[in-house]
Amino acid sequence: MILVEELVKHFGAVRAVDGLSFAARPGQVTGFLGPNGAGKTTTLRMLLGLVEPTSGRALIDGRRYADLGNPVERVGAALEATGFHPGRTARDHLRVTCLAAGLPTGRADEALELAGLADAADRRVVGFSLGMRQRLALAAAVLGQPPVLILDEPANGLDPAGIHWLRGFLRHLAGLGCTVLVSSHVLAEVEQTADHVVIVARGKVVRDAPLAELVGEDGGGLLVGTEGPDDAAGLAAALERAGATVRVEGERLRVSGVAAAEVGRAALAAGAVLTELSAGRSGLEKIFLELTMAEFGGTEPAAGDPAVSAEAAS
Ligand SMILES: Nc1ncnc2c1ncn2[C@@H]1O[C@H](COP(=O)(O)OP(=O)(O)OP(=O)(O)O)[C@@H](O)[C@H]1O
Ligand SMILES: [Mg+2]
Repeated sequence: MILVEELVKHFGAVRAVDGLSFAARPGQVTGFLGPNGAGKTTTLRMLLGLVEPTSGRALIDGRRYADLGNPVERVGAALEATGFHPGRTARDHLRVTCLAAGLPTGRADEALELAGLADAADRRVVGFSLGMRQRLALAAAVLGQPPVLILDEPANGLDPAGIHWLRGFLRHLAGLGCTVLVSSHVLAEVEQTADHVVIVARGKVVRDAPLAELVGEDGGGLLVGTEGPDDAAGLAAALERAGATVRVEGERLRVSGVAAAEVGRAALAAGAVLTELSAGRSGLEKIFLELTMAEFGGTEPAAGDPAVSAEAAS
């Protein structure tokens, strides 16, 4: 497993990582979530021995990366999808890595298959799209079939189909018993993939909990859209009579304390047409949005905007 204890990294006056502690366990995808600049990459680089901590410990299976026997078989990592030799084909790139790590070169094709790159095996990396490079980096990470995976923003550059594939890929590895630590600044990715979430901001852990616990927290009740402010006011009054707590936001309402069916009944009674009825933010989304806004300022985007979680964090 992965264990980070009181980890600190200062770059001059910048406290990139400021006393971070968390664990990532086998058989789970642990989402490492935080706004830009929160210290995610720096933490992962310390785990991989690429950055020396100012203090504290970053351990894989109880050891520092430098002390792992054959690291390729202990931990797979994909940080940034760069550093591939452009003239090499995907297969050659992985074969070279196999040779360097003392792995059978046949692993290259297995990894390409796993990463969904089998069809592009003989293409030169120079012509790869960003998403294909991400897949190649993931293929390289699993070459040695390591029980621990550390991935920094692996969804960057992937199209929706690629993101869907990535989820399956990570779930599959966790199902095999791997410890998967995956960073993201995009809430939706983590929300749909992780078992456990560690949220960081300004180099500190803000929240460390099972995903189900965070999602289960009531963050926003129901979002209700009407055809105009008059309808909204009428519906709000009807809902309040039904025992709901209502906040009017123009022609929309944020409603808590009643089920969706009750909103439908109140709309019927008030003669209001519903233009929207959806679940409000989860507790996780609420925490993350608050964090991101505290970090970068700005006003709260329109409630219930489906793009909010991705864009507010970008
Ligand atoms: N080599 C470095 N020298 C100086 N400052 C650095 C260095 N690496 C990171 N930082 C600073 O440390 C802080 C944390 O950066 P880090 O890259 O770890 O954040 P992050 O959470 O990965 O962000 P993002 O979501 O944008 O990838 C930032 O303020 C960054 O500018
Ligand atoms: Mg980063």
